[in-house]
Parts: sequence; C-alpha cells; structure tokens
Amino acid sequence: MKNVAKFAALAALTLTVQMAWAQDTIKVGVIAAFSGPFADYGKQMEGGIKAYMSQYGDTVAGKKIQIILKDTTGPSPEIAKRLAQELVVRDKVDFLAGFGLTPEAMAVAPIAQQAKKPMIVMNAATSAVTTKSDYIARFSMTLPQISAPMATWAVKNKIKNVVTLVADYGPGIDAEAAFKAELVKGGGTVTEAIRVPLRNPEFAPFIQRIKDAKPDAVFVFVPAGEQSIAFMKGYRERGLAEAGIKVIATGDLTDDHVLPAMGDATLGVITTFHYSAAHKSPENAAFLKSFAAANPGGGRPNFMAVGAYDGMAAIYEVVRKLNGKIDGDQAMAVLKNIKLNSPRGPIAIDPATRDIVQTVYVRKVEKIGNEIYNVEFDQFTNMKDPGK
Ligand code: PHB
Repeated sequence: MKNVAKFAALAALTLTVQMAWAQDTIKVGVIAAFSGPFADYGKQMEGGIKAYMSQYGDTVAGKKIQIILKDTTGPSPEIAKRLAQELVVRDKVDFLAGFGLTPEAMAVAPIAQQAKKPMIVMNAATSAVTTKSDYIARFSMTLPQISAPMATWAVKNKIKNVVTLVADYGPGIDAEAAFKAELVKGGGTVTEAIRVPLRNPEFAPFIQRIKDAKPDAVFVFVPAGEQSIAFMKGYRERGLAEAGIKVIATGDLTDDHVLPAMGDATLGVITTFHYSAAHKSPENAAFLKSFAAANPGGGRPNFMAVGAYDGMAAIYEVVRKLNGKIDGDQAMAVLKNIKLNSPRGPIAIDPATRDIVQTVYVRKVEKIGNEIYNVEFDQFTNMKDPGK
C-alpha cells in the first residue's frame, strides 16, 4: 500500500474504534472542587458515585458508564465554565454532574442550556439554580427548603429573638431570608443579620457581636467543612453557650463528615437537614456499607455523597429508560418524574421546577456509644422549596 492509502486506512480504523467506543459508553462529566479548602466536596461526591457504581455495576442498557472528574479548585465560575466547555466539546459527555458550590452551577447552567446537556446538581443549593437552565435537575436540597423548618421549630420552642449569621453568597442569603420570613410569621424577630465572607471568614468579631446582642439563639448557615469547625470553636471559646445563646442551624454546620472532628463542642446543637448518617432505613444501611467498601479510609459519608449517589441513580434510570441513547429533551422528561427511595428517605423531582421534594428532619447532636451523630427526632414530610 502507498503511504497515503495506508494513512487513510489507519485513520478510518481509528475513527471506527473511536465510534464504537463512543457508542458503547455513557460519559458523565463531574465538575466539583477536588483541591483547595472545598476539596472534600469533590471527594464526597466521588465517594457517593463510587458507592452507587459498586452497588449497581458500571453497565446500564449495555453501555459502560464512564466518569470524568474535573477540579474547579473552589467557587471559581470561570474555571467551572471552562471545564464544562471542555467536557461538552472535547469529551462529548452525555451528562454534566457534580456542583458542590453554587457559583460552579451558575456558571455552567448556560452551557447546559446551549448544548442541551442534562445537568445533575448533586449539592449546589441556592434556590435559583434550577431556574438558570431547562436542563437542570437537582438531587440535593435548597437552602429555603431546610431553613424554613428551622424557624418553625424555633417558634414552637419559644425561641423568639434570633441573630442570623450566614455566608455572604447565594445559599446564605437564601437561608437568611427563608428563616426570617418563617420566624416573623410565628411572632419572632431577627434582631441582627450578620453576613460573613465565603472565602476565609474570620468569625471571632462576629461571635462577640452575637454575644453582645444576647439573643435566644443564633441561626447559622456556613458552607459545610472547615468553616463549621471554626464557628463552633469560637462559639464555645467565647462562652455563648454559658450566656444562654443556643445554636440552631442548617445541617451544613454539623455535617456528618466533619462532626467526629468537631467533638463534644457540638453536643446539643439543633439543625434541620435532609440527610443524617444516623438515618434508620434499609436504604441508608446499604448506602453506608457500599460507601465504606468503595472508599477505604474515606470516613463518614455526608449529604454531598448522598446527593451524588442519588444523582447517579437518576442517571442510571435515564439511561435505562432511553435504552442508552441520550437525548437532552428526552432525558429531562425522565428526570422530571423521578422518584427514589434514597438513603435519606423518599425523594421526588417536582416536574414543574425540576427541584427536589423530600423530608426535612429536625436533629440534635448526640452521642451514640462513643460516636457523635445527628439524631433525627422530628420531621417535615414532602417539603418543597417554600418559594416554589
Ligand atoms: C452551595 O454553594 O450551594 C453550598 C455549599 C455548601 C453547602 C451548601 C450549599 O454546605
């Protein structure tokens, strides 16, 4: 064969192999922080994905599920956007997934819209996220969905005057507004509303302000992880508990993954949330087992791992229903009607908003044996985002 013919034959063969590979795989691009201060978000999601795939296999409708991880390094919209573009254009993914932080999800939404790629949100919890593209379905929570019940509980428990402290970006502002609306409805008052920077907040001066304001309680939303450890440390060190100021919060503050490291400082803290590792159900027992098996040394899974696990269940359901041929609009038609028995309890996607409907639990940090857990003691079933 002449060189040109040889080259053409080789090129044709390569193309055939590539096409066969492409036809045999479903690609899921996972965009999250895998490094920097929010690195645990990516690790938890990856852990949840691995748990799901170890439990249910890596092949659906005859297609291999391929996961491509992309590191945003943190709440950096430009990086998230570039990674999404690469995943769509170069890797030709069938699904975009992940999104621990709201700014990542907001930046990628226009790309999902333009490319008609189903975008599976596994955490990002600002209410408006799902309104930014018709191709988004959320498998985590929204801040208003979990914050309003905290205020309902506060009113019922005679907590009247509250200082709020939230991270100064989408989820924090949502939490502050939803908590306040519900508290005021029940006759309570937010006496001071404090917002702290998302990146590297210094809590000490704010904690002093809370102490000086002498409220019945402080309501807190900070993104899960290091910040919750820092807040609780300051709360104890400055003697707010002794001053009679309770902590009430969304469960991000007592996130299961960092709770063991926070130690006894958190005992008694009341939170509202969609997932606790201590949730008693066969589905959660199976999840905890497969998470541990698939992630040796990975510690306790948290709500982001569960969001990712459920997001994978949804992706598998779409692949099954569409028999392995993923079309954006058809995928959304399936996603809009998904109902799952999640490790957290029953969940459903509201077809009108593509947002999640689920049980929100009231929990108290307690010891079970020598271990610290969020123990559920009350619940709000079928909770929607109150603004939706
Ligand atoms: C978000 O950025 O949407 C976010 C991050 C961490 C949380 C909750 C929400 O714990």
